[in-house]
Amino acid sequence: MKTASHERLLIIDFGSQVTQLIARRLRELNVYCEIHPFNAVDAAFLNEFDPKAIILSGGPASVTQENAPRPPAEIFQMGLPILGVCYGQQVMMDMLGGKVERGHGTAEFGRAYVTKSDDLDLTTAWYSDGPEQVWMSHGDHVSEIAPGFKVYGTSPNAPFAITADIDRKFYAVQFHPEVHHTPRGKEFYAAFVEAAGFSGDWTMGAYREQAIAAIRKQVGDKRVICALSGGVDSSVAAVLIHEAIGDQLTCVFVDHGLMRLNEAEEVVSMFKDNYNLPLIHAQEQERFLSALDGVSDPETKRKIIGGLFIEVFEHYANQIGGADFLAQGTLYPDVIESVSFSGGPSVTIKSHHNVGGLPERMNMQLVEPLRELFKDEVRALGVELGLPASFIGRHPFPGPGLAIRCPGEITREKLEILRKADAVYIDQIRKHGLYDEIWQAFVAILPVRTVGVMGDGRTYDFACALRAVTSVDGMTADYYPFTHEFLGETATRIINEIQGINRVTYDITSKPPGTIEWE
Ligand code: XMP
Repeated sequence: MKTASHERLLIIDFGSQVTQLIARRLRELNVYCEIHPFNAVDAAFLNEFDPKAIILSGGPASVTQENAPRPPAEIFQMGLPILGVCYGQQVMMDMLGGKVERGHGTAEFGRAYVTKSDDLDLTTAWYSDGPEQVWMSHGDHVSEIAPGFKVYGTSPNAPFAITADIDRKFYAVQFHPEVHHTPRGKEFYAAFVEAAGFSGDWTMGAYREQAIAAIRKQVGDKRVICALSGGVDSSVAAVLIHEAIGDQLTCVFVDHGLMRLNEAEEVVSMFKDNYNLPLIHAQEQERFLSALDGVSDPETKRKIIGGLFIEVFEHYANQIGGADFLAQGTLYPDVIESVSFSGGPSVTIKSHHNVGGLPERMNMQLVEPLRELFKDEVRALGVELGLPASFIGRHPFPGPGLAIRCPGEITREKLEILRKADAVYIDQIRKHGLYDEIWQAFVAILPVRTVGVMGDGRTYDFACALRAVTSVDGMTADYYPFTHEFLGETATRIINEIQGINRVTYDITSKPPGTIEWE
């Protein structure tokens, strides 16, 4: 597990909804951290992980219950700085000799203001405007602090909002400094990592060196194959691996005929011209489009595309004589083992498209050099590797491509119209300087024709829907609030410039209840 020479902070997770945000705040401060569930942390783990400090997250449990989740007691004997947040505070107090009680009118949810009781190194940037705004979300509360601790801040319902044992560098707070609603939470974490002696050695430059060494060590003189989609993650992974092992890497770009206007050419030339990266441009449009002929069910479309993708990829992999490793752009949020207190399998909303199953079938191992990174870190690494900013800032594009933006039957005619309409829409967004404010924007061509009038004639053409959303991670999303002027101008351009569309609508559904894509 220990891959690096950089300083490491361990976040022990008790299942809070916002544990990932703690990691985000720390990574922004150039501190490397990992989240591990409380029940995966024992003495051997601690020894191997070798943290420089520990944070105990919040969580939905109550320490007053039997079998409440706890960290191993050893953490308090290691001489390490520890910060307990919300449930983390309660479990700390409970284990170190204080007392925690159930609710009874002292629960606090939402905004609260902490008043300073005494100076503390973690709050030196606070209180300039009076009591400091924080975000509380707790039912239980600490009723007696542990020996050695002292109170440094209080809120109306939390007499122990901020407590600390300065000598041991143990800090315990009732609120969540990691959320947006604690406006100066970042300063709080910055002071904690400073107090813990972190030098801020987690930078993308350092990561690049380390990742290259790790790839070389893992791969040796073997061959790696990578499915390049043109998206940021697979592109950054490919360039990084190429830098590490050169021509031992071959990339395959599968053109399924469901790409946007000029997309395939742009992606292929970017990699061939700038990186001289061995790249197979698999022209498989016919294979995919004929298999999709007459299919309108969204899940069937996805399954056909996913299945064919694997088949095609395997074909090209065999053509170059196979490979021992498959490269994937897996990110950290995909691998965090979160603690589930509710358990149970979740329903499949959509079958996402990837090359799952292939490594086993072809007896390949995985190379996943982005496994430790968040999306914005991947972008920063891309910049570090010299990928053009325009490429790195591209909106996400789904594996099944335009197939899932063409509800109902997919025809070549509809795909042609859709490509052109999408290009006009994105051009509009760029011209108005909105591209970077939007997480993702696209056109969906609808399976209905509507009547219109252009010039003196009647038209009977397709309707389309514009979609634009803001999001942090694609899990939830809001529709983008374009002005009426923008929408009107864009509709006029699409109808005037694209033959085949005579009506434009704007999709104002958020996620949930909608999804970002239409299928
Ligand atoms: P939904 O439509 O589920 O999309 O709200 C969330 C994000 O995921 C993208 N998406 C996919 N990406 N393969 C991918 O690589 C897929 O099969 C796939 N389906 C949706 C979608 O574009 C959005 O960014």
